[in-house]
Amino acid sequence: MRCLTVGIVLAAASLPLAVRAQAPTSIQAKEAPKAAGKETPKAYVPGLEQFMNLILVEHNKLWFAAKARNWPLAEYQLGEIKEIMGDVQDFVPVFKNLPLAEMLDAVITKEIAMLEKSIEAKDYKAFTAGYDKLTQACNACHQGTENGFVVITRPTRPAFTNQDYRPNKQ
Ligand code: HEC
Repeated sequence: MRCLTVGIVLAAASLPLAVRAQAPTSIQAKEAPKAAGKETPKAYVPGLEQFMNLILVEHNKLWFAAKARNWPLAEYQLGEIKEIMGDVQDFVPVFKNLPLAEMLDAVITKEIAMLEKSIEAKDYKAFTAGYDKLTQACNACHQGTENGFVVITRPTRPAFTNQDYRPNKQ
């Protein structure tokens, strides 16, 4: 009797685990035949304007990070801009017959390297000069791709008010 109780308790205790362990297999087993009969689902590739709007947000944040002398954050934001530009090169290398990937290299690489140096040196004056150069490069490409109506400037206020740009003193 005692043995039986222990057995039942053990079985009950192990049940949820067994169910959890089996769950992925049973979902796969159910979905596999369905998927096999259909076309492979399309991978979602964001449009260029979505990448650009993300770059716009990072461009805004970068300014306020550096303005607050939060250099680690500035480095991070610039890194994000680079990453998104890398994504553009991977996902939208050609846009309306324009070699966007190569244009990005030509227009942006120098400007970003300059900004990186200014952030590393924690040199705000060099940063503002580099930031303006980067912004000019944004606009040069917009003009060169018949998007001259998209004009980027130094921001006058943060795009978001729920992020604190001040350096973390800890
Ligand atoms: C290599 C060329 C190139 C560079 C460099 C570039 N852009 Fe763009 N950008 C474009 C193109 C092309 C479009 C138009 C996209 C479209 O028509 O879908 C665009 C559109 C935009 C838009 C409009 C998106 C919208 O839907 O409102 C913004 C904002 C933008 N860019 C921001 C920036 C910023 C900020 C930078 C610099 C940090 C930058 N871009 C650098 C090529 C570039």
